[in-house]
Amino acid sequence: MNQQRVARIVTDAVVRRPGLWRLLRGRMRSMFDELAPTWQTRIGPHHVGALSLALAELQSPARALDVGTGTGVAAQTVARCFPEAQVVGVDLAPGMVAEAQALLPPELALRVRFEVGDASELQFDDGAFELVTLENMIPFFDELARVTAPAGAIVVSFSRGDETPIYVSADRLRRELARRGFTQFADFSAGPATALLARRR
Ligand SMILES: C[S@@+](CC[C@H](N)C(=O)[O-])C[C@H]1O[C@@H](n2cnc3c(N)ncnc32)[C@H](O)[C@@H]1O
Repeated sequence: MNQQRVARIVTDAVVRRPGLWRLLRGRMRSMFDELAPTWQTRIGPHHVGALSLALAELQSPARALDVGTGTGVAAQTVARCFPEAQVVGVDLAPGMVAEAQALLPPELALRVRFEVGDASELQFDDGAFELVTLENMIPFFDELARVTAPAGAIVVSFSRGDETPIYVSADRLRRELARRGFTQFADFSAGPATALLARRR
């Protein structure tokens, strides 16, 4: 089975039953470690287009987290959009974190850092971030809600919309986030890329 198909099947399974993740984590980590050295070649012109539109609606966060950061493209986008923000990018695959660090331009090095971590059990305090972003990443809703500050925001973006291998429908995202106290939603698109902005008040 090809990697894109594996990613979609794992996403569907874990969104429905997050407990399955512990059985699938090892396979996903190895797959993305293998992809890390060439991941940048998959980044198209629209990759962060919808994410950027959503970010433009927000006040600057003091602290932002990009979950499943890969080579750090979305983390860098957040840092450029909010020059006052401290940004953390977290990824399951050590190979991705190494690439993200290597690709980080010196002008962002004091404000952006990358760490290995698992979105299903994040190493951060409750309410630690005013903004949490995900670009092409499986959402673990309980952890997302836990680390987002009380009046914070989450942006979930897919660079190829519903053609993205890791994809969750906007309806499902709204439902799950509404259940966890998010009350304001807005949708964005740029080329094939889509994003949902969710805010909690
Ligand atoms: C499809 S890639 C997207 C990378 C990046 N956000 C982008 O759009 O270029 C998904 C990334 O999420 C990471 N990932 C998958 N499951 C994760 C988890 N539970 N916790 C943290 N990172 C995870 C993978 O290692 C991979 O780097």
